[in-house]
Amino acid sequence: MPESRPMSHSRGEISTLVMPHMANILGDLFGGELMAMVDQAAAIAAIRHAGGPAVTASIHRVDFRERIPMGSLVTCLATVDYVGNSSMDITVEVWAEKPSTGERRNTHTARVIFVAIDDYGRPKRVPRLLAESDEERARFAAAEAYRREQVR
Ligand SMILES: CC(C)(COP(=O)(O)OP(=O)(O)OC[C@H]1O[C@@H](n2cnc3c(N)ncnc32)[C@H](O)[C@@H]1OP(=O)(O)O)[C@@H](O)C(=O)NCCC(=O)NCCS
Repeated sequence: MPESRPMSHSRGEISTLVMPHMANILGDLFGGELMAMVDQAAAIAAIRHAGGPAVTASIHRVDFRERIPMGSLVTCLATVDYVGNSSMDITVEVWAEKPSTGERRNTHTARVIFVAIDDYGRPKRVPRLLAESDEERARFAAAEAYRREQVR
């Protein structure tokens, strides 16, 4: 396992088209479907950073700012923004695109914590996180502050 990995190494992204079977009774994307996408995108980022298996420890916060209508293209972008010993703080930004106009809106933000595990399911140390740009350093500082204030 490397001592450290750059933030850019672990970026996770998944996209999907909102289909009828994913909708709630109003015809918009069902919140539980979105949560599954958020968890998957976060898992990609966590597993890339850890270089092996990692599990969801907590989904700390999801802000549902807007409804996402059926037929939208939804993209979840996950970044590892801070790490402890075995835990990884991941931010997932959700973007919804209206295919007819190409308009993209940042509709949701989620904060998820994954923990890397070994072959026996025990927490395993992860590489340190290297912030290489001003934007990455700002994300790291914000996630560090959030953890200090909000997480056990
Ligand atoms: C997550 C899990 C591996 C933690 O194991 P544990 O023995 O309780 O871990 P510890 O108390 O030694 O803590 C290990 C790390 O996890 C973090 N952690 C544990 N539970 C947490 C929680 N609920 N929220 C945030 N962080 C948590 C600790 O802060 C610690 O971080 P650090 O190593 O960076 O300091 C274990 O609880 C587990 O396997 N849970 C089930 C996960 C699961 O099934 N997820 C859904 C499917 S993927």
